[in-house]
Amino acid sequence: MSTTHRKVKRMIPAKMSIEGEGFLVHRAFPSQTLLDFDPFLLFDEMGPIDHQPGNAKGAPDHPHRGFETVTYMLSGCFEHNDSFGHNGKLEPGDVQWMTAGSGLIHSEMPEKSFLEKGGTLHGIQLWINLPKEHKMISPHYQEIKSVDIPIGVSEDNKVQVRVLAGEAFNAKAIIQTRTPIFYLHAVIQPGGRWEQPILKEFNVFAYVLKGEGLFSRKSETNLKSCELHQMIMFDNDGDSIELIVPSDFNDPFEVLLIGGVPINEPIVRYGPFVMNTEEEIRTAFIDYHTGKMGTIKR
Ligand code: CO
Repeated sequence: MSTTHRKVKRMIPAKMSIEGEGFLVHRAFPSQTLLDFDPFLLFDEMGPIDHQPGNAKGAPDHPHRGFETVTYMLSGCFEHNDSFGHNGKLEPGDVQWMTAGSGLIHSEMPEKSFLEKGGTLHGIQLWINLPKEHKMISPHYQEIKSVDIPIGVSEDNKVQVRVLAGEAFNAKAIIQTRTPIFYLHAVIQPGGRWEQPILKEFNVFAYVLKGEGLFSRKSETNLKSCELHQMIMFDNDGDSIELIVPSDFNDPFEVLLIGGVPINEPIVRYGPFVMNTEEEIRTAFIDYHTGKMGTIKR
């Protein structure tokens, strides 16, 4: 079967910024040059940063309304609590897919023993917009432990894909999404090649976590090598994305491939609230300040 590979449209270096109480993130968007990438609203690589004992930082109590936050831990450990009494721990490889919907207040803080011992904090936070009809649904969590994430493997065993959402090499995600989304974490060994079929309506980007690889080999001009902390945006022309690690490369290439069908609705965002109109943002502020999103009981 012959397919057309999507071309790299733009490469965007993530910018370092300080969030919450002072934790370091590499932010691919939103930025002045890229406000959002429909249906995605934000992409942060948290760290990687080495914390001394007692020094790890988090994001204390803050609200969300109108979208979903997806936290994927790579190293370190977070503890979360929310205003509906929900709490839990996120360890390396775990995913928390939180549908904020009508709103809640939560905290995302370094877990006690991780804080005491110190270590490397590394993770990804992705914000996914909800369509108007789903913005005010009740908050909902899907929490998947690392061992339960399906893994797709290529025939030659050189490509392994953790399937957080969507499908790869016949492995299907267990997470349910509100709109069509895929979220894949691939490790490609030298000499490996991954051709992921993509439906036309999906907006797709990749983000490099480790090593170096090439996108599409058919035309020299599309053969882009990529470096750390880079978001790679693809055009919408083609039915697959090809990633290659030449056999003379020394290290495995680790990359996220994320896509979703655009919602195509007006986006009005103010900090932790993302709605369709200014009026709805004002209502979100009122609801937050009058306690309608609850408070975290400790
Ligand atoms: Co949050």
